[in-house]
This record gives sequence, structure tokens and C-alpha cells, in this order.
Amino acid sequence: MADQEEWSSNANEALEISFVQAAPGSLKTLSSFHPQFTYPIFGDEERIFGYQSLKLNLRFAAHDLRPNLEVLYDKKFKAVGDTKATDIEETLKEWVPEYTFEKLGAFTSHIQNDTSASSFKPPGELLETYQSKGRNFEIWSGELTDPTVQRLVERIQIMISFFIEGGTPLLLDDQDWTLARWRVYFVYEKLSNLPSPNTSPYSIVGYSTSYRFVTYVPTASSKSSTQDFTLPPPTPISPASLPSRARISQFLILPSHHSHGHGTHLYNAMVKTFRASHTCTEITVEDPNEAFDDLRDYCDYKHLLDNGTLARIFLRTDIDPKLSARKIGVRVPTSKLLDMPLLETLRKKNKIAPRQFARVVELYLLTKIA
Ligand code: ACO
Repeated sequence: MADQEEWSSNANEALEISFVQAAPGSLKTLSSFHPQFTYPIFGDEERIFGYQSLKLNLRFAAHDLRPNLEVLYDKKFKAVGDTKATDIEETLKEWVPEYTFEKLGAFTSHIQNDTSASSFKPPGELLETYQSKGRNFEIWSGELTDPTVQRLVERIQIMISFFIEGGTPLLLDDQDWTLARWRVYFVYEKLSNLPSPNTSPYSIVGYSTSYRFVTYVPTASSKSSTQDFTLPPPTPISPASLPSRARISQFLILPSHHSHGHGTHLYNAMVKTFRASHTCTEITVEDPNEAFDDLRDYCDYKHLLDNGTLARIFLRTDIDPKLSARKIGVRVPTSKLLDMPLLETLRKKNKIAPRQFARVVELYLLTKIA
């Protein structure tokens, strides 16, 4: 029986992700890092069996995200009965496009000779440009029905499994009306001082996806409350013209760009489009994690502070002469302390989901009684 330790590698350590661009003579690496999780791909133990000194180099062209996997090792375990080395290509093939497994030389030469790279633009419309630490960034947004958007998502979405606990890739071969509900938002750095004429000025920073839930608004005679449904309504009404909730689904900034404000810019750009939409009634988030909650709290708080919403919220201290601000929440129900109809009006105006609005209002009130 093979010695597990000798022939087994930690998948998170063995796999290195890098973003590259064309440069004279070779590819230039702009950033590289390891995945945080590989259990969805290599199993709960996150181990790859059957290789010594295994190294998996997963490279992406920084602009159009063309992927390439290079597998390096000193020795591969020779199969004994049912015990054989993990078939890396077979394991990864449902996560990445087929051409990911082309030879490194072919990938390198494709990037070096790609004369279209210098004119590459991210797909969709340009939503925003901004600067961070003296560098230039752009946020673009396109519909998932756009083949270029689809191709970029197909290439990059393995990152969702690498960095978002429980995150799952989108089904890109779904029916058109399902794909039509989705939008994708890309953050790119716009580079200057390019090393070669075939170098694209664009380099990916992160991306996010969102979809629309058509909102069923009950009539006065209907007893059921407002609810979401995912099926399209009967034709001829276009789902795009019906009231809907926007749901942020996957949200990722690449590790090399963390804590530079890109998540904040991306979130704000997304919610700005939702707030400007005539059909979007509310902004929701699918399974946010703690880091995303922090970002969302900060952005929503700042938005409500800047547009004067929070300044309109007061604690009522007139309802009970014995009540002082310090006793809030201990003796009096919130509904008596706050003007609930006003809060609901403010919430709807800002299109913030009820729980999130309550969180932000609570944060604000804490600053008042601290
Ligand atoms: N003052 C105080 N805090 C601030 C401020 C401010 N002015 N601005 C932002 N923040 C805080 C946050 O708490 C956080 O603090 P930290 O960077 O010091 O840790 C910081 O903002 C993050 O802000 P950004 O720099 O704008 O965010 P970043 O670009 O790093 O993106 C994100 C954050 C998206 C969570 C990123 O870390 C990431 O992609 N992580 C891996 C994937 C992930 O977890 N995605 C979310 C999954 S949930 C979902 O997909 C719905």
C-alpha cells in the first residue's frame, strides 16, 4: 500500500493561481496566490493523491481570462489495483473550459501573438471609473445572455469555489429566459506603460453577479403577502418590465486586490443601478458571509447618512415619562420607540431589505445612545 504522506499533496498549497499578460520574450505575472478552499473539487480532505512535489499552475490571461493549467511533479504513483493517482484533468474538467488543458507553450504563444488584446474592452457598459492608490479602475456591467460575458464567467467562475464557502458556479447552458435574469459586473484595472504591443491594458480585479426575482404584488382582495417567484409570468408580459427584487449572488475581489476599496466601489456601483431602476423594488443578497456583511453594513450606513435618511430617525422619549434613552430595548418595545410607518417609507425609498435596514438603523441608534 502506498505511503499516504509521501504521495499525497495539500491541494490548496499545490495549486497556484496567477494572472498574466503578454511581455517581450515571456509572460509577465501580475499577481499570484493560492486558493482558500478546494474541497468542492478535490474532496473534504483537500488532498490530491499520487504525486511527489506536485505543483498545479492555473494561469489566466489578465484581460480575457483565457485559462491554462500546467501540471508539474517529480514522480507519479504507478497504479496498483484500484489505488491510482488522482486524474487531475478528469477532476477539473467540469470546472474549467476544455482548452484549459492545452500545452503551456500553446497558451503562451496565443497570448504573445494575440493582436486583438490591445483593443480588448470588457463587455457591456462602463458604469464607473475610479482611482485607488494612484491606479485606475473601471466597473463594467453586461447581461449574461451576452456571449462575451458568458465566456468570461465560464473562465473565471472556478474562483467562486476557491474563495466563497458554499459558492457554486452558474449554469451557463440554462434556458435563455433564465440567463436573461442575470447581470454580471466586472472590475478591471486599466493599466498604462504596457510591456508589449500585444499587451491588453485591462487586468481583472473582481466580479459579481446579480439576478432579478419577479415580485408578486398581491391585489387588495388577495390574502397572501408579497412573495418572490422564479418562473416567468405568462407571456406577453416581459419579466424585465415587472416589479422585481435584485439579488446579489456571487461577489468576489481577487486576493491580491483586497482592502483597497474595490469591494466598496463594486457594491456601490451595483446598488446605484438597482436604485436607479424603475422596476427594482428591493436589493437583497444571497447567503452573505461575515466579510460581505461588514462591507454591506458600511456602504448602506454611509449611503443613508449621506442622503439624510438617518437624520430623520429619532427615538421617541415622549411615550413614557420614566423612559430614558439608556433603557431602550430593555423596557419598551421598539415599535413604540420608533415611528414605524416613517421607517417603512424610508426603507422602501432606499430599496433596502427589511432585515438589513433594521441592522443599519440599529447601528445608527447605538451611536445616539452610546
Ligand atoms: N471604514 C471602515 N471600514 C471600511 C471602510 C471604511 N471607510 N471601507 C470599507 N470598510 C470595510 C470592511 O469591513 C473591510 O475591512 P478590511 O479591508 O480592513 O478587512 C473592508 O471594508 C473591505 O473593503 P474593501 O477594500 O472595499 O473590500 P475588498 O475589496 O477587500 O472586498 C470582499 C471585500 C468582497 C469580502 C473580499 O474580501 C472578497 O472577495 N473575499 C473573498 C470572497 C468573499 O468572501 N466574497 C463574499 C461572499 S458573500 C457573496 O458572494 C454574496
